[in-house]
Amino acid sequence: MARDISTIGVIGLGTMGAGIAEVFARNGFSVIGVEQNDEGVERGRAHLQHSTDRAVKREKLTTDEQAELLGRITLTSEMKDLAEADIVVEAVVESLAIKKAIFGELDGIVSPDAILATNTSSLSVTEISTANSKPGRVIGVHFFNPAPVQNLVEVIRTVVTEPQVLEDVQGVLARLGKSPVVCGDKAGFIANTLLFGYLNHAVSMYENKYATREDIDAAMRFGCGYPMGPLALLDLIGLDTAYEILDTMYKQGRDRLHAPAPILKQYVTAGLLGRKSGRGFYTYEAPDSPVVV
Ligand code: NAI
Repeated sequence: MARDISTIGVIGLGTMGAGIAEVFARNGFSVIGVEQNDEGVERGRAHLQHSTDRAVKREKLTTDEQAELLGRITLTSEMKDLAEADIVVEAVVESLAIKKAIFGELDGIVSPDAILATNTSSLSVTEISTANSKPGRVIGVHFFNPAPVQNLVEVIRTVVTEPQVLEDVQGVLARLGKSPVVCGDKAGFIANTLLFGYLNHAVSMYENKYATREDIDAAMRFGCGYPMGPLALLDLIGLDTAYEILDTMYKQGRDRLHAPAPILKQYVTAGLLGRKSGRGFYTYEAPDSPVVV
């Protein structure tokens, strides 16, 4: 039987964690947000305030709803305050050592039937789960950025995740109005595995001088209805980030679609990182400017 879930713990209130806390609070859940120190707590609070202020400005929330939403979130720097959580979503930095330390610490804090979720993008959920005495209660929930806006959540079940845990998580995500998809524990999950194979192929086409950057991008925009072409999208993601993602997937899966195109590494080494550095496949006048030179 599905478990009654009303209290959500979120560990790490950075880009993703603050957004995840907001989504749960917006949908009536009580949220306990944990940061590593008081400074982190204040940063998290500011993030939540800023994001909900924007929602009010865009008339997605009334000021009363904003006050109710923020009233459902308690912020703390103490992990032990998570004792009441039915589900804990970990969203700290992408470090296996830090995540494992947290999943180990949760053992002595949460109830034995709590669900423990990680928002990792590339680490092994199975490996993280081994740090806890109940690996069957551990699952991946990969929200997309920004969490309050993007509908997709990839749910990663390991070979030992209990079926009831998967069912409960899918039920909760449906209550958030999200569209959960389920996959196994392999770097890249569904979306990045498919997306980055395609992006890497576009880089190879460009590298082999098969077509110009403009024509490669135009083909996918005007022929396939994609909002951005692959090379412009890579510039937006950041070529260093894209390289790391491809490299991790290639090392794990050995699928040659993910073997990073050599020119990608050369661009990164030369400091051409895309929009954030002003130049990647295209040149940008200002970091956010779409002007192409
Ligand atoms: P971030 O760096 O913005 O936030 C991480 C937060 O965790 C920081 O506020 C930090 O103070 C806090 N933290 C670190 N150690 C902690 C501890 N021991 N206890 C409590 N808080 C701690 O990182 P971001 O981008 O939010 O990423 C978080 C996770 O989400 C990572 O695993 C990342 O791979 C994943 N992710 C990131 C996406 C993105 O677009 N940024 C998209 C989807 C997943």
